[in-house]
Amino acid sequence: MPATDHLVIFDTTLRDGEQSPGATMTKAEKLRIAKILEKLRVDVIEAGFAIASQGDFEAVKGIAESIKGSTICSLARALDKDIDRAAEAIRPAERGRIHTFIATSPIHMKHKLQMQPDEVVEQAVRSVKRARSHVDDVEFSCEDAGRSDLDFLCRIIEAAINAGATTINIPDTVGYAIPEQFGETIRQLLNRVPNADKAIFSVHCHNDLGLAVANSLAAVSSGARQVECTINGLGERAGNASLEELVMAVRTRQDLYTIDTRIDTHHIVPASRLVSTITGFPVQPNKAIVGANAFAHESGIHQDGVLKHRETYEIMRAEDVGWHTNSLVLGKHSGRNAFRSRLLELGIQFETETELNEAFTRFKALADLKHEIFDEDLQAIASHTRQEEEGRYGLVTMQVCSETGVVPKASLTLLMDGKEHKVDAEGSGPVDATFKAIESLVDSGCNLQLYSVNNITSGTDAQGEVTVRLERGGRIVNGVGADTDIIIASAKAYIEALNLITSGGVRQHPQGADV
Ligand code: KIV
Ligand code: ZN
Repeated sequence: MPATDHLVIFDTTLRDGEQSPGATMTKAEKLRIAKILEKLRVDVIEAGFAIASQGDFEAVKGIAESIKGSTICSLARALDKDIDRAAEAIRPAERGRIHTFIATSPIHMKHKLQMQPDEVVEQAVRSVKRARSHVDDVEFSCEDAGRSDLDFLCRIIEAAINAGATTINIPDTVGYAIPEQFGETIRQLLNRVPNADKAIFSVHCHNDLGLAVANSLAAVSSGARQVECTINGLGERAGNASLEELVMAVRTRQDLYTIDTRIDTHHIVPASRLVSTITGFPVQPNKAIVGANAFAHESGIHQDGVLKHRETYEIMRAEDVGWHTNSLVLGKHSGRNAFRSRLLELGIQFETETELNEAFTRFKALADLKHEIFDEDLQAIASHTRQEEEGRYGLVTMQVCSETGVVPKASLTLLMDGKEHKVDAEGSGPVDATFKAIESLVDSGCNLQLYSVNNITSGTDAQGEVTVRLERGGRIVNGVGADTDIIIASAKAYIEALNLITSGGVRQHPQGADV
């Protein structure tokens, strides 16, 4: 295998992560996430699937233009048109990679591709060669490798390396693998593929059995030198291996691993929060590393131990992963310039002066309510400013009556296609009444799949962040709204979800049937 002095971290939050139902992100949001991935010193950022839509193409290109510290990668099926589009999108990057893939398991080849194994090898070789005609850095993935025949994997990998692949990725696409067995598969591949020394072996594990991180670590012990992962373990279905867990496992157990990553772990918690705010996927409190309870000690015995000697119950330091770095950045008296420069430091840039003015007005209103404004508040302001400007529906005013012994009622003034409408409705609670009032005007036909509330920072004066997931005709969107009043945040989230569901164009899914 070519020498690498560190374990390569390939982050696919912006591609596989975005395949989570409802996790669609705008170009500006993807850029903000890419900026924090660069700060984390992620080696490779998979910025998207360029051929999926014009929006996806623009996002990959925008990231390729502005990120310098990481390699920028686009996914491409093993098809000429995908590969050429990926190449065009990553062209501005200082370091660009094309990641091409084809399914190799009997079940995928027979039912999805309807191709014979020989044809699959031929197509893989052609695609790798085409990708190499554009860039020197080419990754080839055997989709559903976790259920593929080992002899066939050896054959196609050898051919792909001969065709010029520099990284070979072994995905456990459906999260079927078990650590011992997956580690053994990687060991066998490294031993049996005659030209294995000419490529870096990588793994990409899904979490359907909750084993994505364990499988990835088993692969590292067997010699894999790249792991593919996402912030917060976001990703298709149960998600991908989580970056923070993988990185901290390898860092904490340097007694077991002969290699480490280059990740600057201090940005882990801010990255987790940013991804959660943008996607509307909350982080469960007991999530390793980035959950609110990850470093909290409930029992008196543990607290006593930690106070006497931290290492009695703590294997990592909270500050090493970015906890407690919450700085008070701005306040009520901060001016427009301070606001703008802090946004720039966070990688937030508005396209127009009007958007910046609008965001500044929100900042002032929020500072009046809660005095202390943290980076997370600014991230939420930035996300919601753009989305509210672009939608078909908008919230003008609202009033909610919530009193013991009285049926809750909501009265709203909504904007629809630029015209104001007054609506009201009763409900089982104030949120229910609010959503019913909105629906009495919009009549969207959507199913509410998820409603959740989280606080952005701590304290009862914090902004509440509400996520609303709507489904219509199989399409799923997440709307996110933030406000110090959670009923208003709920209305904003519902309206944002409606705007998303009425606006989104058609995007291609990379793992659907090839066309
Ligand atoms: O899970 C998977 O197989 C993938 C490939 C496209 C790498 O995401
Ligand atoms: Zn995947």
